[in-house]
Amino acid sequence: MPDTLTIQDNRTGKTYEIPIVDGTIRSTDLKQIKTGADDFGLMAYDPAFLNTASTRSAITDIDGDKGILRYRGYPIEQLAEHSTYLEVAYLLLHGDLPNESQLQEWETSISQHTVVHENVKQLMEGFRYDAHPMGMFISTVAAMSTFYPDAKNVRDPECRMKQIHRLIAKAPTIAAFSYRHCQGRPYNYPHNRLGYTANFLAMMFKMTDNPYEPHQVLARALDILFILHADHEQNCSTNAMRAIGSSEADPYSALAGAAAALYGPLHGGANEAVLNMLQEIGHVKNVPGFIEEVKAGKRKLMGFGHRIYKNYDPRAKIIKRTADEVFAVTGRNPLLDIAIELEKIALNEEYFVKRKLYPNVDFYSGLIYEAMGLPMSIFPVLFAIPRAAGWLAQWSEMLQDSEQKIARPRQIYTGSDVRDYVPLGKRK
Ligand code: SDX
Repeated sequence: MPDTLTIQDNRTGKTYEIPIVDGTIRSTDLKQIKTGADDFGLMAYDPAFLNTASTRSAITDIDGDKGILRYRGYPIEQLAEHSTYLEVAYLLLHGDLPNESQLQEWETSISQHTVVHENVKQLMEGFRYDAHPMGMFISTVAAMSTFYPDAKNVRDPECRMKQIHRLIAKAPTIAAFSYRHCQGRPYNYPHNRLGYTANFLAMMFKMTDNPYEPHQVLARALDILFILHADHEQNCSTNAMRAIGSSEADPYSALAGAAAALYGPLHGGANEAVLNMLQEIGHVKNVPGFIEEVKAGKRKLMGFGHRIYKNYDPRAKIIKRTADEVFAVTGRNPLLDIAIELEKIALNEEYFVKRKLYPNVDFYSGLIYEAMGLPMSIFPVLFAIPRAAGWLAQWSEMLQDSEQKIARPRQIYTGSDVRDYVPLGKRK
């Protein structure tokens, strides 16, 4: 049987053969289906892209029904166990795991780009004392475009890679500065002799000249969380990164836009919303009542559900395991009992089972961050730091894809028909 779709347009009786490639048809192949010469032709209508592929990509592969997530073909479970965030960032950006010299060169280069221009500190001083760190992160990353005007040469591979090094290296610094600002504490400069996550924790928590060595279990746990958050194919914020990048805007402006999309409570802001929800529930005995409110449509169970995963998010499983290792060091987070009770009830309730709602990456991550002494307001920033590698890999892939051009969807117009201007004095 041929890989085609035969479409009969019952308005005209005409039939059309539409090729099927990689399980898709091209929307532009529908344009030929017209009722007459002045007909624009058929379009596909898909609000929120529920069933629309916007690109070909070789970076991340998800099977939502089987709960599978692979970066460049490597299962997330193996990467979380054996790799590091920087090695995974290299994999996402270059397509293969680095050899020893490549990894050494990559880690050294990142460690040498961690400092930001002193003007960035002055810029951040302008925020209110209680500014939300994610708002500061988004604004400051956007402002970085004014420090590197050469970043506009997005078609130059070397220029792209230089900005990628800068953004991956400076994201933790900007994040830590944002946190220290809203704590009213002096900023800590990067400690390049430390690893990526250990350096971030030191910039977050080091006080005065007291030596600060992050606990290795906590630094490793954060590294695993960064691996799990590094990319997730065409999610909302990656779609924003690609759309902004498609106009050839510089990567700082594009990444700030992606981080802005991530900030929403339905996306990367969910980890903060989960903690607020658990604190509001307050005790295991209140869980059944809360579940009833969710089933009545009055509340969402934050940290549950996913557009792609209709099975357990594989990242949530790994995070739940990592939580035990963290709590062994920090002491058990009492909110964990509420989270476990929520999950236990939800996974057996018809409302959730019917809708295939399972814990996602955000359900347990906040419990680990809080146990590590990280405040809720920094949680979305902790998502943005590692996702920078994914956003930049997707951005770079988009710019090299000959099928891509400036993103500009069509619409179905539902507004007024043509009408004449009414002078002010004649309006009702
Ligand atoms: C991330 O896309 C990605 O890959 C994102 C991400 C990544 O790595 O980039 O994985 C990160 O964003 C994870 C998701 C974090 N967000 C949350 O935890 C917020 C709570 N979740 C929901 O808002 C929701 O599940 C979404 C936004 C995640 C997915 O929404 P969809 O796919 O648009 O599904 P939907 O809203 O149409 O829900 C289908 C049904 C609805 O019920 P009915 O109208 O059919 O009766 O399920 C219900 C929804 O009301 N539902 C929920 C629910 N999620 C969906 N009901 C209660 N609680 C929830 N959490």
